[in-house]
Amino acid sequence: MMSAARIGTVRLGAEGPQVGVQGLGCMGMSEFYGDTDEAAARQTLETALDAGVTFYDTADMYGQGANEEFLAPFVKAHRDEITLATKFANERRADDPAYRAIRNDPPYIRQAVDASLSRLGVDVIDLYYMHRRDPRVPLAESVGAMGELVAAGKVRFLGLSEVTGAELREAHAVHPITALQSEWSLFSRDVERSAVGAAADLGVAFVPYSPLGRGFLTGAFLDAASELSDGDMRRRQPRFTGDNARHNADLLEPVRRIAEAHDATLGQIALAWVHAQARVHGLPVVPIPGTRRASRVRENVAAAAITLDAVELAQLEPIAAQVVGDRYPDMSTTAAARE
Ligand SMILES: NC(=O)c1ccc[n+]([C@@H]2O[C@H](COP(=O)([O-])OP(=O)(O)OC[C@H]3O[C@@H](n4cnc5c(N)ncnc54)[C@H](OP(=O)(O)O)[C@@H]3O)[C@@H](O)[C@H]2O)c1
Repeated sequence: MMSAARIGTVRLGAEGPQVGVQGLGCMGMSEFYGDTDEAAARQTLETALDAGVTFYDTADMYGQGANEEFLAPFVKAHRDEITLATKFANERRADDPAYRAIRNDPPYIRQAVDASLSRLGVDVIDLYYMHRRDPRVPLAESVGAMGELVAAGKVRFLGLSEVTGAELREAHAVHPITALQSEWSLFSRDVERSAVGAAADLGVAFVPYSPLGRGFLTGAFLDAASELSDGDMRRRQPRFTGDNARHNADLLEPVRRIAEAHDATLGQIALAWVHAQARVHGLPVVPIPGTRRASRVRENVAAAAITLDAVELAQLEPIAAQVVGDRYPDMSTTAAARE
């Protein structure tokens, strides 16, 4: 396995902040992927920073605010060294764990940003994303309200998540968008239909989430339903369970061969493929793999130094089209549902 070195930096969009070429997804530190060891998660944050990771990703809905609160001491200790990204739009209720609604209306946005600022313990959020799109609210109204947050000094840059290329263009005409965050990996390439091209045209950076296919691409688990704990949301994901999981695990064979040739892990090749998309599509691409473990941060960061050649990229090309099962049990809130 390659050893970790400090990663290089890249600018998010034409006018955006300079960040390490790989960020850190913090979601799993508070919810969705089973129990967390808080001390180990804190060590993971510090290890990432030591390795040149400066871009930290959270959202108000992760742990219903708990993930932002968890990050606050780290942010306070390193405010000037990091770029802090959070998100609004997925409304949840403390008294009803199953409740979910998508909110894009300006009054909601104004109260959501204040709540995030308070939980994070900061005066300004570096990058504020709309997490999901509610097509019933005109995009100009939502992005207009987000732009007012920039004018008010509560937010530095704006981002969107899970929007189509057309929606990105419409939003960018209202206020410059710095980054688009959507799922992009060897297994999930629907963003290439319109979003990636629009981002490249507009000079918007792409921030791939779940670049390790929520862990499946590392070979860490083969069947979520039998191997992961009860509270793990991956147990309900169609592509990670039963016959689908068995079929999809076989698709990792070329990844395994390329990993052996590079003396790397499967996860490193999956990340190297995402990094390679910057060259392929001509835009900044800053993946945010999530991990709660310092050793895995080192491993993931080292992937940024792996260059896949044209032959290797061609060998990986057919994988996504053969994946069986959607990337969410309910795809209705994704950009793919509106294309
Ligand atoms: N905008 C959105 O709608 C959206 C949706 C999902 C996620 N996100 C963001 O994107 C971030 C990353 O996505 P993700 O966490 O869903 O998926 P991911 O980065 O593809 O995979 C994370 C999973 O892989 C495991 N893992 C990480 N590195 C590993 C390694 N080197 N070897 C083996 N296993 C490894 C982690 O387990 P351990 O923690 O145990 O290491 C975790 O279970 C999230 O943290 C979140 O900030 C955004």
